[in-house]
Amino acid sequence: MKSPTYLATAAAVLFTLGLATPTPPLAPKLPTRSSSGQLRLLHTSTPQAPSFRSSSSRIGLTAAPAEQESTKGGALLTSAANSFTSISATFTVPQAKVPTRGPTANQTLIHFAASFHVGIDSVSGACGSSLRAGVDIFHDGSLDDDLNDPQAWWQFSPADPVGFANFSVAEGDLVRISVSVSEVKIENFGPLALNGTSLKCRSTNGGLGAPKQTATVSVNGTGLCGQEVGWTVEDFPLAGLPNIPVALPDFGSVRFRDVGVTGGDGEKKNADGAVASDVRLQAQGGRLTACGVVDGGKEVKCDRVFE
Ligand SMILES: *[C@@H]1O[C@H](CO)[C@@H](O)[C@H](O)[C@H]1NC(C)=O
Ligand SMILES: *[C@@H]1O[C@H](CO)[C@@H](O)[C@H](O)[C@H]1NC(C)=O
Ligand SMILES: *[C@@H]1O[C@H](CO)[C@@H](O)[C@H](O)[C@H]1NC(C)=O
Ligand SMILES: *[C@@H]1O[C@H](CO)[C@@H](O)[C@H](O)[C@H]1NC(C)=O
Repeated sequence: MKSPTYLATAAAVLFTLGLATPTPPLAPKLPTRSSSGQLRLLHTSTPQAPSFRSSSSRIGLTAAPAEQESTKGGALLTSAANSFTSISATFTVPQAKVPTRGPTANQTLIHFAASFHVGIDSVSGACGSSLRAGVDIFHDGSLDDDLNDPQAWWQFSPADPVGFANFSVAEGDLVRISVSVSEVKIENFGPLALNGTSLKCRSTNGGLGAPKQTATVSVNGTGLCGQEVGWTVEDFPLAGLPNIPVALPDFGSVRFRDVGVTGGDGEKKNADGAVASDVRLQAQGGRLTACGVVDGGKEVKCDRVFE
């Protein structure tokens, strides 16, 4: 569990965003982690809209209308119930860096985090149940490097997220995640440079090869609706701070490639026709991502932007 001191420090720093010369906080107490890797973001199934009333009055920001605030960006395919039975994507785990622009610029001691995941019924919360898996990245300059290690997890909500056993991932690793109504699977191919934008192009030059690590979990997806699939970048709250999205790092860009969807009839599709959206959090500068479906639906791309 996270120590209250650590969380209080993170909260205090988040509330000072936008001050001209924020006072650097004291080094926070290190969170303790279990050997299997303690998740540090709070993956709720339906994150609540954040309230900025108290912080905005202190830092002089005007709270945005609720509909403009979104902790999620990416691309979403929506259809009738039982339309989707699986979703997959391959992506390089981005590096979490301190932004040099925007309200969180150069705040080297605050906690930055972002989550990249794919899932079934995993975005709108409309189904009441969702199955998803992803990787969270972290940066906090006051913590040891290993406490900033990315974490891979899966979640069949409303149950809590679970870290993949015997699976580790580092920034720069190429991972492939497949979520289906019967199994969740993650593979780590290591720091594999892709040739251009296409995995197929790479595979003509030897393929991805065998993964360094694979983790699979069997699930019974009976409670899922199968009415949406999403490739998502998310700004989650930290555990213990359920109403405050953590500061989003500069992650450069995430590219969900070789995206695949299986329809209820078994038909294979890609992200063609998916609706793109962006992370928008007024307290962190407004629009934080520029997401789109590119390459005829073969890829979902989200760039970190500073507007
Ligand atoms: C943050 O630091 C970088 C590098 O020193 C600098 O170029 C940039 O202007 C700084 N940003 C702000 C908002 O002060
Ligand atoms: C993880 O690895 C350890 C040591 O190799 C092994 O004992 C354990 O059964 C593994 N757990 C799973 C879930 O594979
Ligand atoms: C990248 O792919 C192109 C063709 O798809 C090939 O000509 C080129 O040699 C490849 N480069 C590397 C570094 O594999
Ligand atoms: C999945 O769960 C449902 C209801 O809980 C049950 O009826 C069904 O037999 C289960 N399927 C499998 C493959 O275990």
